[in-house]
Amino acid sequence: MRTLPHLLEKNRVWAERILEKDPDFFTKLSCQQAPTCLWIGCSDSRVPANQIVDLLPGELFVHRNIANLVIHTDLNCLSVLQFAVDILKVRDVIVCGHYGCSGIGAALRGARLGLSDNWLGHVQDVIVKHRDRLDATTTADLRYRQLCELNVIEQVANLCKTTVLRDAWDRGQQVSVHGWIYGLENGLLKDLQTTVCAADEADEAGRTALAGI
Ligand code: CO
Repeated sequence: MRTLPHLLEKNRVWAERILEKDPDFFTKLSCQQAPTCLWIGCSDSRVPANQIVDLLPGELFVHRNIANLVIHTDLNCLSVLQFAVDILKVRDVIVCGHYGCSGIGAALRGARLGLSDNWLGHVQDVIVKHRDRLDATTTADLRYRQLCELNVIEQVANLCKTTVLRDAWDRGQQVSVHGWIYGLENGLLKDLQTTVCAADEADEAGRTALAGI
């Protein structure tokens, strides 16, 4: 039987280290969670949500999938969003993409990976929508980086169209949507300036972000 003892040992040491700083840490957390932020990011192992914004367990509600996509019929992502907004009352929703995203790269090259090609069809839609801009980009590397950014901007737009956020804004709930991108090469996040705080800001935010990349 394969038991992964090295991971269990690492977990034990990690929990001990946390308790050294705060003996009540896990007791307090086990009673409730009160994160103020929902993170929608890529599944990529190099983009671990809590670590790159230096937050502890309990401080970030997280949904991750290949290429950080927000799809109107994806009940998984929509349910996470609904729970975060309606129940946890998060103040901020961040869509975080990253440069060098394998999913985005595969979509751009038209590579065949298997079942996930169907999921990445949503990135193909972003390519089709921004075909002129991508074709006008001079190098393949810049085109790749640009598609990673365009994909975040489009997912922010998708989020703003969900019934979850529209209903929250209709009832006056304060919740903002942000589009960020992470650099694998330097560990830094960049705000793509597509923040939306109300339904009627979404189109303008999208235009501003597109003008800025
Ligand atoms: Co990725």
